[in-house]
Amino acid sequence: MLKLENVSITFNANTVNERKALQNINLNIKDGDFITVIGSNGAGKSTLMNAISGTYRIDQGRIFLDDKNITNLKEHQRAKKIGRLFQDPLRGTAPNMTIEENLGLAYSRGKRRSLFPGIRKKDVGYFKKELAALDLGLEDRMKTPVGLLSGGQRQALTLLMATIVTPKLLLLDEHTAALDPKTAEKVMELTDKIVKNDNITTLMITHNIPNALKYGNKTLVMSQGKVILVLEGEERKNMTVDKLMKLYSDNADDVMSDKMLL
Ligand SMILES: Nc1ncnc2c1ncn2[C@@H]1O[C@H](COP(=O)(O)OP(=O)(O)OP(=O)(O)O)[C@@H](O)[C@H]1O
Ligand SMILES: [Mg+2]
Repeated sequence: MLKLENVSITFNANTVNERKALQNINLNIKDGDFITVIGSNGAGKSTLMNAISGTYRIDQGRIFLDDKNITNLKEHQRAKKIGRLFQDPLRGTAPNMTIEENLGLAYSRGKRRSLFPGIRKKDVGYFKKELAALDLGLEDRMKTPVGLLSGGQRQALTLLMATIVTPKLLLLDEHTAALDPKTAEKVMELTDKIVKNDNITTLMITHNIPNALKYGNKTLVMSQGKVILVLEGEERKNMTVDKLMKLYSDNADDVMSDKMLL
């Protein structure tokens, strides 16, 4: 469903700051795959997502989504099919708009072009039901401006907004990293529930190795712009943090950063 062929991105080419952020990446992601991505700082994880979402143009290679070549599509053209969450809970929601209005906007994605679509009564009922499933009590705060929510509540809402119209692909870039451990676990569990319920093809960057092995069905390990390991099946099932660290040092040219070991 998502295919990357020889994808490369070099920043500041032919200067002293040249950085080969992605080097000949080949990936074939199947429908319903939930793939976790780990790697040290600067390995190219976020750049990989930026290449897929169209935030960055690639220098070389091709990207296909559902057999359609999207390499030359702009970010906003891809956004109809791709949901995305970042580390910062402030991204992805409009703080001065209410929960209900934010959900209304997300719900209209790919349907109408109006920036302020009227919210139908029927939709409000649906939003309430979906919010109640998050189990954060947000269903009783539909008229509350999103800016008043906590980071965890806001990230859970962003997750709901990204998936209320089921995306073809969901990209999660360390989306629980800025939350306290308990809230992070809660948002992670919600993520897993939504992804499984709607069978959403998902790529999730995390620096939490136990979570990278616990959630999803495949793990990509990146180092210096390359995918150096792909873990799946029995090998992944039997993988431990210690074994993974050993595998990493055997296969990577750099050392595993502290961030990966948090
Ligand atoms: N817009 C940009 N301009 C120049 N260099 C960039 C840009 N974006 C990323 N880079 C560089 O590309 C490399 C890969 O960065 P990227 O953000 O993809 O790493 P990452 O694996 O997400 O790391 P982290 O775990 O720290 O988030 C880094 O060396 C980074 O400095
Ligand atoms: Mg990153």
